[in-house]
Amino acid sequence: MRDPHSLYQALRDQGPVRPARFHSRLPGWLVTGYAEARQLLGDPRLSKDSARALELFPPGTAGAYASALSAHMLNSDPPDHTRLRELVNKVFTARAVARLRPRIEQIATDLVDAMAPGGSADLIEVYAFPLPITVICEVLGVPDGDRDRFREWTRPFVGATDAEELARAQRELTAYMDTLVAAKRAAHGDDLLSELTRVSDAGDRLSHAELVSMAFLLLVAGHETTVNLIGNSVLALLRNPAQMAALRADPSLLPAAVEEFLRYDGPINIATVRFTTAPVSVGGVEIPAGEFVMISLLAANRDAGRFPDPDLLDLARPAAGHLGFGHGVHHCLGAPLARLEAQIALGRLLGRFPAMTLDADPADLRWRDSTLIHGLHSLPVRLA
Ligand code: HEM
Repeated sequence: MRDPHSLYQALRDQGPVRPARFHSRLPGWLVTGYAEARQLLGDPRLSKDSARALELFPPGTAGAYASALSAHMLNSDPPDHTRLRELVNKVFTARAVARLRPRIEQIATDLVDAMAPGGSADLIEVYAFPLPITVICEVLGVPDGDRDRFREWTRPFVGATDAEELARAQRELTAYMDTLVAAKRAAHGDDLLSELTRVSDAGDRLSHAELVSMAFLLLVAGHETTVNLIGNSVLALLRNPAQMAALRADPSLLPAAVEEFLRYDGPINIATVRFTTAPVSVGGVEIPAGEFVMISLLAANRDAGRFPDPDLLDLARPAAGHLGFGHGVHHCLGAPLARLEAQIALGRLLGRFPAMTLDADPADLRWRDSTLIHGLHSLPVRLA
């Protein structure tokens, strides 16, 4: 977890597509090459349909796959995927999220205002976490007071955890989502969940299970990822003072810088799992039908065959084409929102605390124990 890049490089040196067990026991493959990752993410013979994936698990071992919250677009193939994604697409286009800019700037400003210059702080706790969760909860219409509970409930979905803890979190979160949706149904507001409740009630485009799963996906995707993009980016800057100075001197570099942060040390590790519905040849190997394929975006984005000098943070490099948001039909729906949040968050932070330093030995930083998310438990900084 501390240094996945060295491990991936060693694995990639043995070949871009290697046999590897999924969930430690099911037949599978690990993809570390850029071209191979991109090819597979765009191949319709690879499925994300969780109902079909369940058939590949021995009875009782499917964990989160069997959750009542799993009937969402990221676990579906077209045409269900297309139908579900179209219902919310318009809310997350670049043009639509641009309207959120003033509000996101306000949230970022309020958060930096609350941080005392000269003091130490855990940047994840006081900044990287509250910003995206506040934004996504406002978009969806989740009450303020409920935000912290999500953190407890969603952790078991992305972290290493025991089956009992996961089952409890699933039960509590499902019950919460049911209650929230019922409240929206009773009193429609001007928010995305209220609109989806109307869609669900109006006809056959969105079942109740799909509605609750959609809310769950947007909440988790909307706050587990951007937190770690902000955290990983700040750490990368603190460890590369020349790049930090360049960005401070010219904030117009921010949009390009965020692309490089997504390439250099993005927040998704191997969340992008699929399974083959037919034999597929890739990177010189033949993957049989019915096997899991784990695509490491972290590894693909450090493939020297695509990005020269991949271990170098270079904010001026053309990082477009990175796979930090995935590729193909499941390419991140929230990418425009995540980009905007990260640009605003980093801009405000560097503007307010230009001489901020890391307040820990890099070797002591604790990384999340998750194969899905690549991010820090905490990021101690000295604010100056
Ligand atoms: C899908 C990354 C933020 C919503 C994805 C995928 C990736 C990703 C890699 C594709 C997964 C796959 O193909 O298996 C990220 C990163 C983010 C981020 C790195 C932040 C830095 C967000 C936000 C939202 C969001 C803020 C909130 C709306 C989604 C949804 C999908 C998705 C709904 C599923 C899309 C589909 O199945 O068609 N994201 N995401 N993401 N993301 Fe994001």
